[in-house]
Amino acid sequence: MKLWGGRFKKAENKLMEDFNSSLSFDKRLFYEDIEGSIAHVSMLAKCGILQENEKDTIIKGLNSILDDINEGKLKIEGDYEDIHSFIETNLILKIGQVGKKLHTARSRNDQVAVDMKLYAKKSTKNVIEAIENLQQVIKELGEKNKVIMPGYTHLQRAQPVTFKYHIMAYYYMLERDRKRLLNALEVMNESPLGCCALAGTTYNTDRNYTALKLGFNNPVDNFMDGVSDRDYIIEIISDFSIIMMHLSRLSEELILWSSSEFGFVKIDDEFATGSSIMPQKKNPDAAELVRGKTGRVYGNLMSILTTMKGIPLAYNKDMQEDKEPFFDALDTVLSCINIMTGMLSTLEVKGENTIKAVKKGFLNATEAADYLVNKGVAFRDAHKVIGEIVLYCEEKNKSIEDLSLEELKKFNSLFKEDVYEFINYENTLSRGIKKDIIG
Ligand code: ARG
Repeated sequence: MKLWGGRFKKAENKLMEDFNSSLSFDKRLFYEDIEGSIAHVSMLAKCGILQENEKDTIIKGLNSILDDINEGKLKIEGDYEDIHSFIETNLILKIGQVGKKLHTARSRNDQVAVDMKLYAKKSTKNVIEAIENLQQVIKELGEKNKVIMPGYTHLQRAQPVTFKYHIMAYYYMLERDRKRLLNALEVMNESPLGCCALAGTTYNTDRNYTALKLGFNNPVDNFMDGVSDRDYIIEIISDFSIIMMHLSRLSEELILWSSSEFGFVKIDDEFATGSSIMPQKKNPDAAELVRGKTGRVYGNLMSILTTMKGIPLAYNKDMQEDKEPFFDALDTVLSCINIMTGMLSTLEVKGENTIKAVKKGFLNATEAADYLVNKGVAFRDAHKVIGEIVLYCEEKNKSIEDLSLEELKKFNSLFKEDVYEFINYENTLSRGIKKDIIG
């Protein structure tokens, strides 16, 4: 069942037919293909290229195919080359000869380009919505857990922060991800429909009409660019890759925090798994899978970038290879955002352990140095004094605040009773711009 064949003497080899077919994966575009065709025939009638009654019959036929697919009466399968051939052939089967007029002034090149853009726009909006849900859950988790915890650099305890402050860092990463996707939507919002194969058509069609009807800002400027542009797919998968990188960092933290070594959080049973041999195990599989699937999305980005790099203008069949990486990246990023939303909305923060970790890590050492600076010592000298105090504390297995004033004075005579107040962990967060941390 082909849309071509007039100039061929022999039938296509079965191997070639299977190799060439994209139906098994581009069937996801059925809605957009019908939407695009309806806009196209409406335009053809408006421009006097089709009769009104022909347009009505074709649109009725297309809508009835859509219903048949949605109701499961028409299965998208069989030896069709792609979703476009499938819909057109079924239209002709349904409404007869007039169905053969649908493809006037159109090529599958502009058809597939518009289908993919419509699908990419719709799915990008779904991802934006999923990101917003995750951001909301992060906010709520932070609000519930303003408890103090160690902030890290080099994975070594550094300075006190709060759990809320730490988790909100991811909120802002996701905010940039959201803006990147909104920007991609804006950049891609030009319709390729009407470019035809590569050089437009001799008919006086109206590309503005179809562009607006399909929700684009305007038609593309250049026909050849219109049919061979896949930048938007690359851009969206790049944005997905950055989202995955963020989710992967968060996953890594959840994996560390839920270990007995940290004990900062408890992942809910609903989002954890067990071991088939070790009865005591509770594993953070959801977070590990998100971390693992990040590589898969990066792979999809490399795949489409590499596919596109050597293609001369205009359409080449290589471009059919845009679909699987895009669909896979989309499905992966959506499922990862959703699982992260589930994991975080049920996460328990173990405040008693985060506080313990703060108290053990000399996290007020910088503030102890600031104390001496306030008394007139140069910061570099104060840094050295506190370094010596930390060494002393390690030998005695004590924290700075456990030392007596007498012990402190041995290191610098400027220490007074008020130092304890000054280096108290909670107090440090209420001074200077650190106030932002407790909000
Ligand atoms: N299945 C094709 C694709 O995804 C549709 C376009 C076919 N165009 C062509 N000239 N063979 O790219």
